[in-house]
Amino acid sequence: MSYMRKKERNGNTLNGVLNDCWEMLRRGAAHFNDPYHWPVLGTTANTGVSLRCVILREFLIPGRVLLCHSDARAEKIREIAGSSNVSWLFYHPQKKIQLRISGHATLHADDQFADEQWAAAKATSRLNYCAIQPPGTPVDGPSSGLPDLLRRKVPALLDTEKCRRNFMVITCRIDSMDWLALRVLGNRRARFDWDETGLKAKWLIP
Ligand SMILES: Cc1cc2nc3c(=O)[nH]c(=O)nc-3n(C[C@H](O)[C@H](O)[C@H](O)COP(=O)(O)O)c2cc1C
Repeated sequence: MSYMRKKERNGNTLNGVLNDCWEMLRRGAAHFNDPYHWPVLGTTANTGVSLRCVILREFLIPGRVLLCHSDARAEKIREIAGSSNVSWLFYHPQKKIQLRISGHATLHADDQFADEQWAAAKATSRLNYCAIQPPGTPVDGPSSGLPDLLRRKVPALLDTEKCRRNFMVITCRIDSMDWLALRVLGNRRARFDWDETGLKAKWLIP
């Protein structure tokens, strides 16, 4: 069967749509140039909803787990500690598919999980956790906040080891997923909800 025919067929069954979603999330986590690599993560702040771009670092299919990294001192960590309900927004402009996901987030600071993610992070990624002052601290002029040692040269892994204390992993187990495919001849929408009894899937009017 041709790729296009298979794609069409996948979009015609709820099971096919779900498999496509898993594949898009898997690709997004694996490829930096994939639009699903850069989702928006939503948390709940005192003032309302709080949104920011993050990098989707991993998608663990068996547990329906999305994973990203954060500075432990960042606002989003405080917000998730206050309310673990989070939302994710993905959009693929070529495939014209929006995914809205909600789930429960867990913070990982000192566990084996965070250690493994840190060990696998490149020195340039680790720099994001090396600012002396916490993210959001006001400063007199434009500044990365990095110590001199890390500003002067491209850092080696060893130079960034001290920054481990500022590094956290956010994981999120997907509870529900709203899929919207834009089509010239009529959009399509489906919803997937998981609870203790399993998965409930349905088509929706877009
Ligand atoms: C394309 C892009 C990717 C980003 N990826 C991350 C990320 O993976 N983790 C992160 O903490 N911040 C990331 N940021 C920065 C956040 O959007 C945000 O500015 C920062 O985390 C502070 O947000 P907070 O105060 O809500 O915690 C990214 C920003 C952009 C523009």
